[in-house]
Amino acid sequence: MHITNYSSCIMVIFGGTGDLAHRKLLPAIYNLYSQKKLSHNFAVVAIGRRAKTSDEYREEVLDSLHAFLKFDVEKEVWNSIKNKIYYKEMDFSEGESYQGLNIDLMEIDDRHNTCGNRMYYMAVAPEFFGTIVDNLKINCMKSNYNAWNRVVIEKPFGRDLNSARLLNNKIVEVFKEENTYRIDHYLGKEMLQNIMVIRFANMLFEPLWNNKFIDHIQISSSETVGVGGRGNYYEKSGALRDMVQSHMLQLLSLIAMEPPNDLETKSIRDEKVKVLKSLGRSKIADINEVIVRGQYGGLVDDSDEILAYRNENKVSESSNTETFVALKVNIENFRWSGVPFYIRTGKRMKKKSTEIVIQFKSLHNILYFKEKELLPNMLVIRVQPTEGVFFQFNAKEPGTQNNIIPVNMDFCQNCHIGINSPEAYERLLSDVIRGDATLFARWDEVEYSWRFVDQIFEAWEDTNPQFPNYKPWTWGPKESDDLLKKDNRSWINF
Ligand SMILES: NC(=O)c1ccc[n+]([C@@H]2O[C@H](COP(=O)([O-])OP(=O)(O)OC[C@H]3O[C@@H](n4cnc5c(N)ncnc54)[C@H](OP(=O)(O)O)[C@@H]3O)[C@@H](O)[C@H]2O)c1
Repeated sequence: MHITNYSSCIMVIFGGTGDLAHRKLLPAIYNLYSQKKLSHNFAVVAIGRRAKTSDEYREEVLDSLHAFLKFDVEKEVWNSIKNKIYYKEMDFSEGESYQGLNIDLMEIDDRHNTCGNRMYYMAVAPEFFGTIVDNLKINCMKSNYNAWNRVVIEKPFGRDLNSARLLNNKIVEVFKEENTYRIDHYLGKEMLQNIMVIRFANMLFEPLWNNKFIDHIQISSSETVGVGGRGNYYEKSGALRDMVQSHMLQLLSLIAMEPPNDLETKSIRDEKVKVLKSLGRSKIADINEVIVRGQYGGLVDDSDEILAYRNENKVSESSNTETFVALKVNIENFRWSGVPFYIRTGKRMKKKSTEIVIQFKSLHNILYFKEKELLPNMLVIRVQPTEGVFFQFNAKEPGTQNNIIPVNMDFCQNCHIGINSPEAYERLLSDVIRGDATLFARWDEVEYSWRFVDQIFEAWEDTNPQFPNYKPWTWGPKESDDLLKKDNRSWINF
């Protein structure tokens, strides 16, 4: 891993007028700048089709900062950063406009001393990626000898293995793998980075992290909201593509990977990829036995009407898109053989949370196991909205009886004043500028995730699910509970 310490660069945002740029990217840039984690020799060029001047764009950025920052905008910081933000009106699909873009970039480069370094951020729909990189290659990649050109690609990276491959082939014609940053913003979350530390820096956990001591693992990510205004996108995606192929399999690979030889980018990614590779090793024998899909229905009460997915804006009335998926995954390797990983994700569910539950095997103890079975030890890694770690173990209930009760050690990281975790995009943008790709997906990680997910789509292809099959603000369809019940287990819903 070669990390450059200088951060002088121009960040070119394709899709600078869009939701992602306003809600996440520009607030992250402001925060990095206010914390002095960005060089003064820095500039942003935001690209969109809407006609506006840079001054008008800056006013809109200021409004977004007021709306989306956790803290007040500091006047001094804003006055210092605002003149580094430019707006460029152009249509990506028009090849000739890139010459003008390059001239603008060279001028901004001179004005802000950004050393020719460029980060091209694709905050646009994936169908534009190919056209943009082709045109960048022809017009915008001739910066000076020492300068770097990096590309940041938002998910979804393709919609199946074939389209992901085509997209990747396009990108590698222009950017080398080490300059390609496939972003999965989950990897920028504090607790995800903490998974390796919890595993590999604690004598209490590392020796037990295997099939001798762990009964099963649950990885859940639920949202209470529906698709809202994103029906158009979601119809082409669904929970399996939107969440499982990317975020959930990334979580799985961090939980299940072997210890890397060192903390170099390559060593960590090599270990993660081995997990993903082992998933697709054997064909899933009977998809219906191990995978449940669902779609939320609607609800009408006195005060309000909650729309069923099929009635949401830009969603087909007969849509078979899944808004929920639960699956049982086996990792066929020495460490995990026989330990099921249950993955669950959905919209319009009871609670917003992303959590990983590691349930240890029960201790069959003749001393204390009398009337009722002891509850197993449980380690819960809370990713969002609460960040922290929770450990459940058994202790004696105070009193004259020898009753045993489960007690908890609960460390809530973001409840403590003074521990203010950076937003995922802050960490990730800062890593791109520093040239550290550890928290980004390498092509083979993406490839093996698609291989696994594609076989599920193949099996679903000719089937007609009975949708809708779960009510809003529940834990999904009944079949999801049955999936674990068959194994004498149940979802842990905190
Ligand atoms: N929003 C999120 O939180 C989020 C999270 C993860 C991933 N993503 C991904 O990030 C990408 C962008 O999402 P978004 O929500 O920001 O989308 P969005 O709000 O629809 O924004 C799309 C942007 O693309 C620009 N654009 C579209 N066609 C263009 C063209 N031909 N020439 C120039 N500009 C063009 C639009 O500019 P004009 O409107 O000015 O034309 C706008 O700035 C998508 O791939 C999405 O899946 C988004």
